[in-house]
Amino acid sequence: MDKIVSLARRRGFVFPSSEIYGGISGCWDYGPLGIELRRNIKQAWWQSMVRERDDIVGIESSILMHPQVWVTSGHIERMVDPLVECKNCHLRYKADDIQGTRCPSCGGELTEARMFNVMFKTSVGPVEDSASVVYLRPETAQGMFVNFDNVVQSTRRKLPLGIAQQGKSFRNEITTGNFIFRSREFEQMEMEFFVKPGTDEKWFEYWVQERHDWFVKLGIKREHLGLNEHPKEKLAHYAKRCIDVTYLFPHGWAELEGIANRTDYDLKQHSRGSGKTLDFYDDETKEHYTPYVIEPAVGVDRSFLAFMCDAYAEEPDKDETRVVLHFHPALAPIKAAILPLSKKENLVAFARDVYAGIRPHFMVQYDDTQSIGRRYRRQDEVGTPYCVTVDFKSLEDKRVTVRERDSMKQIRIPVAELRKTLEAKLAGEDLYVLPPGGEIWNPEREKKG
Ligand code: GAP
Repeated sequence: MDKIVSLARRRGFVFPSSEIYGGISGCWDYGPLGIELRRNIKQAWWQSMVRERDDIVGIESSILMHPQVWVTSGHIERMVDPLVECKNCHLRYKADDIQGTRCPSCGGELTEARMFNVMFKTSVGPVEDSASVVYLRPETAQGMFVNFDNVVQSTRRKLPLGIAQQGKSFRNEITTGNFIFRSREFEQMEMEFFVKPGTDEKWFEYWVQERHDWFVKLGIKREHLGLNEHPKEKLAHYAKRCIDVTYLFPHGWAELEGIANRTDYDLKQHSRGSGKTLDFYDDETKEHYTPYVIEPAVGVDRSFLAFMCDAYAEEPDKDETRVVLHFHPALAPIKAAILPLSKKENLVAFARDVYAGIRPHFMVQYDDTQSIGRRYRRQDEVGTPYCVTVDFKSLEDKRVTVRERDSMKQIRIPVAELRKTLEAKLAGEDLYVLPPGGEIWNPEREKKG
């Protein structure tokens, strides 16, 4: 984990929040490369959950919701963790994480466990009294339940119907840690899939498989993923079944995503709590019923950590070791780097033209500092799938070399073919499938003349 944390910070993926003031525990800031990776993860999720399906739509609900939502949903009463405090050093722990009766840090005596609600409270309006209390949402899911009827009426959809959302959630976790694995402010990607009662078990199995396979498609090694069913006594108050997709993080196997069968709990609760009936009228069977809900819920930050850990490799290269992030091209923060071989004016001008031609289409970076070898290393380290090198011969033959991050093999292709070639390679085409005027590049052969 230390290597990931150090790389993340050094190369501008993740910084501790408010670092110049000493940081704030459980909060993180994402740097220039981190924000690109986050956006790519969110985009890949949105693409597969919303854009490529005709049974799921998206929404974005507000973070502050009517406080009654959290009473009705059960979060006020049940989103509690047992907290113990060391009487000597005053460190606090979640009682479930402690083995024995002594403080793991100093060995001091621990207090009795007391229940602690992990929702952050704030107030709306200028008067801070009990009537103004609202909560920062601890999950995005309730935004989908309270909007169920709005979405059904406005879209005239039939079941099964999914409502998806991405957005920040907040939990005053007693213990945070393992870098961005557990934070107090984090982002979730959740989807509530409303189905006819009786079909819920089938859809539950379907979503467990789909979500597991999504990580595999984006490059996570199968052997680093697992499935873990929650025992009945550990289920959340709303769930009939829950299976976690787990990942082998550097600190061990842990939950990456949870898929829950939330039954009709939430819609029934909100029907009672609000007085507005949240059920579904099936035109075909002429029945009214309260749908069951299957919920795949995953954290952006936790996925970010899993994708980084899984992509990280140290590989021998000549006499050195190269550090590479083998990101899936869809996730890589930078898709290609344009690298002129030298800083000579005419070469830089040509390389800048190449850069300007590609930039509207992909996230590309221009870099003319240091030796070409060091620039390749720098791009490998942040997971850039392709490096495009512009050399003096490019001025004459209007061709550039394209180097692949994973194999380090190169091809030489006409600049006019660069955009199409990068597009094809990023979509998975083999490097050695060449465009017109392209060749497999072998610098050794070139030197020999
Ligand atoms: N609506 C259901 C729900 O929120 P959850 O298992 O508590 O279920 C879903 O959260 C996902 O959100 C988790 O699998 C994890 O990826 C992410 N998550 C939850 N708490 C987190 C935290 N404190 N920090 C980072 N990610 C978190």
